[in-house]
Amino acid sequence: MAELFINAGHRLSKVNKEIQGQFSEHLGRGIYGGIYVGENSDIPNENGMRKDVVQALKAIRVPVLRWPGGCFADEYHWMDGIGPKEKRKKIVNTHWGGVTEDNSFGTHEYYELVRQLGCESYVNGNVGSGSIREMSEWVEYITMNGVSPMADLRRQNGHEEAWTLNFLGVGNENWGCGGNMTPEYYANLYRRYQTYVRQYDPDHPVRKICGGPNVDDYDWTDTVMKTCFSRCPAGQHGFMDGLSLHYYVHPGGWENKGSATDFDENTWYQTMKKTWYMDELIRRHGAIMDRYDPDKEVGLVVDEWGGWYDVEPGTNPGFLYQQNTMRDALVAGITLNIFNKHSDRVKMAAIAQMINVLQSVLLTEGDQMIKTPTYHVFDLYKDHQDATLVESSLTTHTVGTGENLVPDLSESVTIDNQGRLQITLTNLDPDHDIPVDIRILDHATSKVDAEIVTGEMHEKNTFDDPERVTKKAFAGVFKTERGLHLVMPAVSVIHITAE
Ligand code: AHR
Repeated sequence: MAELFINAGHRLSKVNKEIQGQFSEHLGRGIYGGIYVGENSDIPNENGMRKDVVQALKAIRVPVLRWPGGCFADEYHWMDGIGPKEKRKKIVNTHWGGVTEDNSFGTHEYYELVRQLGCESYVNGNVGSGSIREMSEWVEYITMNGVSPMADLRRQNGHEEAWTLNFLGVGNENWGCGGNMTPEYYANLYRRYQTYVRQYDPDHPVRKICGGPNVDDYDWTDTVMKTCFSRCPAGQHGFMDGLSLHYYVHPGGWENKGSATDFDENTWYQTMKKTWYMDELIRRHGAIMDRYDPDKEVGLVVDEWGGWYDVEPGTNPGFLYQQNTMRDALVAGITLNIFNKHSDRVKMAAIAQMINVLQSVLLTEGDQMIKTPTYHVFDLYKDHQDATLVESSLTTHTVGTGENLVPDLSESVTIDNQGRLQITLTNLDPDHDIPVDIRILDHATSKVDAEIVTGEMHEKNTFDDPERVTKKAFAGVFKTERGLHLVMPAVSVIHITAE
């Protein structure tokens, strides 16, 4: 028996909706085929965007979409992707499969997608092979409403009004594919680049995301925070609003990631242990950030996370196409709970990647589309968006094999603007159902609703069997004198709303 204690009267940090963000790169079928099929496609589309995909993404309330990369961002020259499509440059996507990139999805198409999704924009600029001028002019092209060379060019290309640029990434993985820089070099370059990110629309300032560490490179965080963090006088912007962190779960390590679908119990626990490592990373990078920024003005932005396995047999190794099982549902549920619990510092995140690449929420094949177990977990968690974290703690048992020992359960609890408690719980134990007694202080529960994603650990959706793993109503939550009681099935993610 586990016990969950909730103190609804003790409100902590806001859980920014952006924590449930998505990332789409020009990689494999992430954009082309997955989202964008062009206006002339037989696949039903609106201005080239797949209708089935947009509808499914709207249902989970995608709050923000990071684009165009990834490693691709530091080779992307935005001017290649504007103007008449037949005149756009055809380039080689050197990072991802060496395929031809025809630039038919560029800035205007991205903003059309953002419009259809009703989400915020997060554009990643090019530091690695671009210039300060190029990045500065991209910001001008997107956000300048008056008369200026870039605003005029945007109008010539058919878009009168400026768009909003909510977030700008100043390079990507600058320690690796984004230029192989040292932290000292990047930090100084960041200071220069961000200087020329002009705020043309004071009502919607561009928030600047500084390139952060690779996994546990704490020296990077320290150097960059020391060099780039600046307090801002009231009404002005400091040098940075966020620091990115990238961390992927490769069960057997980078060289031996393993199959997405065929794994044993040891690999299951290995995956879960690596998933829980996110908690340590956030604590340790957060502690360094606290030294420079005790008021937590700068968000930790985990803008690439998720499971990364071997590609599906027979698919292009450069396309990173992988299946998605209940294991991924647990990776997503645990990670999103960790983010919620650290929402005082984690202000935004983006799972990699939205469609057809790595731990996707959707997979497509021609005109077919399926929702993955990960999709259904995002569906369960969406009511946390912009709610307030409340104090909670959970008793857990350690389970696992060999060195791979982990807590069996995870949780996070928020209170939404209607005063409802939103509780999410995960049980990663593949063999045991676990009774959970919930004690709630400072909240009189009149009504309970619950929904669940569960299945045997290898279960997945396929194009032949698309509904094997779905979100289902869960009738197993009962009111008690002290709060609630339920039994969590083995391998499950549950969302409870207590009104
Ligand atoms: O998401 C795939 C790649 O992983 C991204 O392009 C890069 O930023 C990271 O290494």
